Amino acid sequence: MSEKKSFGEEFEELDDRPAARSTAPSLADLWNRRIARRGFLTGIGKAALLASASPAILSLAACDETPKAAPDDIFGFEPVPHGVDGDHHVPADHLSEILIRWGDPILRDAPDFDVRNQSAAAQLAQFGYNNDFIGFVPLPFGSHASDRGLLCVHHEYTNDDLMHPGYPAENPASFYTQEIVDIAMAAHGGSIVEVARGEDGKWQVVRESEYNRRLTPLATEMTLSGPAAGHPRLQTNEDPTGRRVMGTFNNCAGGITPWGTWLMSEENFNFYFLGENSDEAEKENHKRLGVPGSRSYPWGYFHKRFNLAAEPREPNRYGWVVEVDPLDPASTPVKRTALGRFKREGCENALTKDDRLAIYMGDDQAFEYLYKFVTAGKVSAMRAENASLLDEGTLYVARFSDDGTGTWLPLTFGENGLDESNGFASQADVLIETRRAADLLGATPLDRPEDVTPNPATGRVYVALTNSKERTETNAVNPRPGNLWGQIVEIEPQGGDHASTGFAWNLIVKCGDPASPEIGAAWNADTGADGWFACPDNFTTDAKGRLWVATDQGSGWHAASGSADGLYALATVGGKRGTARQIFRAPVGAEVCGPCFTPDGTTLFVAVQHPAADGTANYQGFERASTFDDPATHWPDFKPDMPPRPSIVVITARNGGPVGG
Ligand code: FEO
Ligand code: CA
Ligand code: CA
Ligand code: CA
Repeated sequence: MSEKKSFGEEFEELDDRPAARSTAPSLADLWNRRIARRGFLTGIGKAALLASASPAILSLAACDETPKAAPDDIFGFEPVPHGVDGDHHVPADHLSEILIRWGDPILRDAPDFDVRNQSAAAQLAQFGYNNDFIGFVPLPFGSHASDRGLLCVHHEYTNDDLMHPGYPAENPASFYTQEIVDIAMAAHGGSIVEVARGEDGKWQVVRESEYNRRLTPLATEMTLSGPAAGHPRLQTNEDPTGRRVMGTFNNCAGGITPWGTWLMSEENFNFYFLGENSDEAEKENHKRLGVPGSRSYPWGYFHKRFNLAAEPREPNRYGWVVEVDPLDPASTPVKRTALGRFKREGCENALTKDDRLAIYMGDDQAFEYLYKFVTAGKVSAMRAENASLLDEGTLYVARFSDDGTGTWLPLTFGENGLDESNGFASQADVLIETRRAADLLGATPLDRPEDVTPNPATGRVYVALTNSKERTETNAVNPRPGNLWGQIVEIEPQGGDHASTGFAWNLIVKCGDPASPEIGAAWNADTGADGWFACPDNFTTDAKGRLWVATDQGSGWHAASGSADGLYALATVGGKRGTARQIFRAPVGAEVCGPCFTPDGTTLFVAVQHPAADGTANYQGFERASTFDDPATHWPDFKPDMPPRPSIVVITARNGGPVGG
């Protein structure tokens, strides 16, 4: 078996390692800081009280609180069994088609994909690599159309070793030229693609659409707004204003606002910076975020803004949320600094009771935190009036108590020690160093928070804690040491209001195989051999209140489940609460991202990221790292001269009804 790891696997392992910090609370500190919120418990009812007894088991009992119990046939589709092979799978009662692949032309002047003669100019007009988040904005805007809309897609990162013929196994640094780096940069960022469903029921990309657009770190100018915009710590030699920045990268999960803008997260931005930091004042800040990466993309050899010796403050211009208006192809995307700066997984949102917007966000690294931003102003029905809504509000970080309650702690300058005594001179400093501010408030370190989503059908919020191999000390929300499998936290906002600062929580499932008692998984007792999963990552929800969970086991798939990554429906209410069923299984080496329904639920888009890349050393019969010429699968083209290509798959039900029944 080859010990050689692929390009992507080497980066992926770094999420598991905690970042250096000086103020992380110990478990004992967390216990001491615990707040007994008895009045709140009474207010929220039985679910919270049960949670105090046993958060994991309570979750199954709590379902009798649910007003409308879902029927036990909540799944309504044939299960896809566990397994691993080179293709994707959907149930026999569903159909799947490839909608768009890496390299497919999307702008009017885009050349056809020629993988052996790729150029940065071509890539700038073609669909990018490693599709992650998918948002759907119905067209015309304001309609609930489910046959025409804009797909807003993140291209998180590149697997350079699978993109280029001749990529060397040894000394890959020698391979990079300006053009190779620019191709990678052009394959990052995002795509806006108009899609439409024809009379034959098939979805297609609308090639001539005026909306189609690429956003990249190579060629898309963006602005910074909010409290940190223009701050000296965001000023560089290239941008003395601290208000203009070239592009975005490592965009993972995301969100669509009620006014139809697209929120792009910036996740593992540290992997793009190299060189010796030349600004002593930023040393601790960079260290807390892992800048420079212990392994980095070589962009800094060709673009000096990624070289810390030349531009030591450039990293401070990443880690934000970017707001993009997909309905205006000429619009300039805006980085909204009020939402803080960290390795942000996603930004799904919900309205508060008084019509403000709450945005939930995870910081995906071992022992990092869960955040929420609540706007100061209300969402207006007039689209233009929301243009600056995300520039003012309160950023909170979560503290989970072992009794099943929790508190949102405000990250506000001047409060709770976030002041000069701790080196914060303004709200800008608090936002630039969000992690350090959260450390000081005693936020709860979590098992790698990935996607977070409110469930509109129930008002509850779900948090994917994907895994944490390094954990040794446990607590109620992170209950397992050496956690290879992850867990899903269910949050009930106090008073059912996303603006509230209190919540009750429980673990709806502890992932992994329930037939292996030694790993401590917890599922509904009805869970069968194929009705469980490991390493939850991306979420969406549906009208039945089901949580759709996409998994990312990375190279650890073999130990975590022995099955390829997939997309599962998880029942959150009724007698089946806490059991799951797989509707989509990815080809070997891929993770599943971006699950996204059309408004009527009859189409499901899923993003297959990095096919053939992860953990192929454990793929029986292959047992080595994939390369361009020798990949573990040629999905989805299955042509010997075409490498695997990250792609979006469209899933529909054969009966024309909602996907998943
Ligand atoms: Fe990009 Fe946290 O996965
Ligand atoms: Ca990913
Ligand atoms: Ca993710
Ligand atoms: Ca992930």
